[in-house]
Amino acid sequence: MLPPTPDPLLRFRDEFPILATTNYMVSNSLGAMPRAVSERLADYAREWATSGVRAWAQGWWDLPIRVGDEIAPLLGAKPGETVMVPNVSIAQAQVLSALEFVPGEKDTIVMTEMDFPSVKYVTSQLGERFGARVVVVPSEDGVSVDEERLLAAIDERTALVSVSHVLFRSAYIVDVARVSRRAHEFGALVCLDAYHSVGVVPVDVEVLGVDFLTGGVLKWLCGGPGGSFLWVRPEVSERLAPAVTGWQAHSHPFAFDPDMSFAAGASRWLTGTPVIPALFAAAVGPRIVREAGMDAIRAKSERQTARLVTLADGRGFPVTAPRDGRRRGGTVAFDVPHAREVAQALLSRDVIVDYRPGAGIRVAPHFYSSDDEVESVVGNIDEILAQETWKRYTLQQSIVT
Ligand SMILES: Cc1ncc(COP(=O)(O)O)c(C=O)c1O
Repeated sequence: MLPPTPDPLLRFRDEFPILATTNYMVSNSLGAMPRAVSERLADYAREWATSGVRAWAQGWWDLPIRVGDEIAPLLGAKPGETVMVPNVSIAQAQVLSALEFVPGEKDTIVMTEMDFPSVKYVTSQLGERFGARVVVVPSEDGVSVDEERLLAAIDERTALVSVSHVLFRSAYIVDVARVSRRAHEFGALVCLDAYHSVGVVPVDVEVLGVDFLTGGVLKWLCGGPGGSFLWVRPEVSERLAPAVTGWQAHSHPFAFDPDMSFAAGASRWLTGTPVIPALFAAAVGPRIVREAGMDAIRAKSERQTARLVTLADGRGFPVTAPRDGRRRGGTVAFDVPHAREVAQALLSRDVIVDYRPGAGIRVAPHFYSSDDEVESVVGNIDEILAQETWKRYTLQQSIVT
């Protein structure tokens, strides 16, 4: 028999300290911190301590655009088109605040039951405040988006189609290009929440045909909290005036002009003072992901998630993740008996996964995960069930991961 082929992506393991002490299978929630983030945060503190207010002119002011340029290649976007924002909820609010809804004519936002709650809340709260009608397409199975129903919901009245690329509940990959084609046939714009794809599933705004894309570095990009991004198609961007705005979006921010005059390019999507420490941390992970290469990351993810599905099937654990690898993102959720307690027992063994009611245990290997670690998650579950050690956790509160 041939010896197993070495996995070239494992060369990045040393960059992530937590991999030395845990089996880290939770990159769908919080990606592992790259070692170099400590130095970048120390740089931030040093610049503040030594430059004081001069730090703004020495690079802090432009940071949301410069970090956006580090993300852009992972979106298939060009430099100067992506801006960093504090979170996706704000990015989605900015998009909605820039649109016109004409009652009875072009007033409808189409989304799906499977979108992330925060996006749903912002869309219903702000959309309805701005006079939009929000149509939510239900999911037949609680796993996928019924794409025929979604397409059928898009018509002349649709102003915006707001969908997820990879569903957070099941890792189902939506055929976004098809949705965009239909939306554009009816003159509607498309806003994509790509939080669960960028960094683990290749993303190209041209292939997907979207007009807005939101996401964050927190999960698959290993960039920590506070680093979310908004990309807007330049031709669309230049004709929009977001009402959720701020002085950084002004063409002459230091003129303190009483009237708004939007800056050119991605800067028009800035708001107020950026979250500088988060931006210092944010770019390290995306750089490593770019170096690892999205095609290699995706091929490995498809292989390891397929293995997890096989291991779960072999034990009769119901699997939520799509079986077709081309339609499956980076996470495999499966239910096991006493799943909440089993997840706690896994954490106590330094096997870091998360548990969600209705989905079960979610396992998310990433490019730095070894095949042995993938096997070991299920091996540990076997032991916890056979030895009944899950019983120790019946009264404990679940830990949010
Ligand atoms: C699909 C999706 N969108 C958005 C978010 C988070 O949004 P925010 O940055 O507003 O916290 C998450 C977080 O888990 C998510 O899974």
